[in-house]
Amino acid sequence: MKPSPIKPISLIQFLIEERRAGHINAELSLLIEVVARACKRIAVATNKGALGGVLGMQAGDGEGGSINVQGEAQKKLDVISNEILLEANAWGGHLAACASEEMEDPQQIPDGYPKGNHLLLFDPLDGSSNIDVNISVGTIFSVLRCPDDVTEPKAEHFLQPGTEQLAAGYVVYGPATTLVLTFGHGTHEFTLEREVGSFMLSRRGIRIPEEATEFAINMSNQRHWQPPMQRYIGELLAGTTGPRGKDFNMRWVASMVADVHRIVTRGGVFYYPLDAKILKQGGKLRLMYEANPMAFIIEQAGGAATTGRERIMQLQPTGLHQRVPVFLGSKKEVEVATHYHLIADGAQNQVDDVDRSIG
Ligand code: AHG
Repeated sequence: MKPSPIKPISLIQFLIEERRAGHINAELSLLIEVVARACKRIAVATNKGALGGVLGMQAGDGEGGSINVQGEAQKKLDVISNEILLEANAWGGHLAACASEEMEDPQQIPDGYPKGNHLLLFDPLDGSSNIDVNISVGTIFSVLRCPDDVTEPKAEHFLQPGTEQLAAGYVVYGPATTLVLTFGHGTHEFTLEREVGSFMLSRRGIRIPEEATEFAINMSNQRHWQPPMQRYIGELLAGTTGPRGKDFNMRWVASMVADVHRIVTRGGVFYYPLDAKILKQGGKLRLMYEANPMAFIIEQAGGAATTGRERIMQLQPTGLHQRVPVFLGSKKEVEVATHYHLIADGAQNQVDDVDRSIG
């Protein structure tokens, strides 16, 4: 007789299991429940599209609308998603403070509410240029421990390397709403069952293939890239006729969550390298609430994440909104791209160090 199919478990059941296994405490469990609940509300808001009055730019003082701390135009849904996450996390007693792409400084817990021991960082709506054209967007978050004896956390208290993360996750608002989560014991996927309103475990212990046949990069920046990136991507494009001896396919959604979710599902690599246009700012993507949480998720699924020169999670952050180059995905391919950069830098001895640090 065939065994009956295993009933999928909910996120809440999964969190209870993780507590019993000693991977998380009650406060972190509550934090994840609250973030997941907020993301369900963001999913509802994004699903309304034009009918919800949520498309377009946020009104403001900047040219064409409101400008955020990054100097980027804010969409209405950026602001709505930020408010949903702030409001949901204000009163539960699980947070010491939180920080967001949309706010210059950390947000303190309002007076009158209890404080917890965790720091939450998030990009409330990643890939927001895709909102108005009905393409997947997402939320990315990272959880750190608040240093002992700090009651009013400031930016400096958030500046911990990615290796200190207690949890990281993202939610993709696509054809399905999908949460991917790690506590440092594997990477797991939950799919929102809309009729019931629960995230259900859909993949446990995700493994990313070590070899890649797909890469994601914004090719329109090619002429601005540094020589090792030009060489590396040139070889991928040459396919079977070049030194790599195989063909690679290319995809670029322009929502990091969607590109990363493809990699978490079927392997591949994602690159946002340094280029001449963004040299001064150090990269395009933000370390604390984009690169670090994605690196944690990818590494826990057996992949690798570097800046092209160093392991992302070992960087000592210097600013809440610091930007870094991002190379992540299938381990062997990230290693090739990273080696090309180190060799071009004449840093042959660092090749072994990076190999060791990304395992
Ligand atoms: P934002 O959240 O400000 O829309 O940024 C999106 C990020 C990331 O999600 C995506 O991979 C990348 O920027 C897209 O960059 P390009 O505009 O160069 O395509």
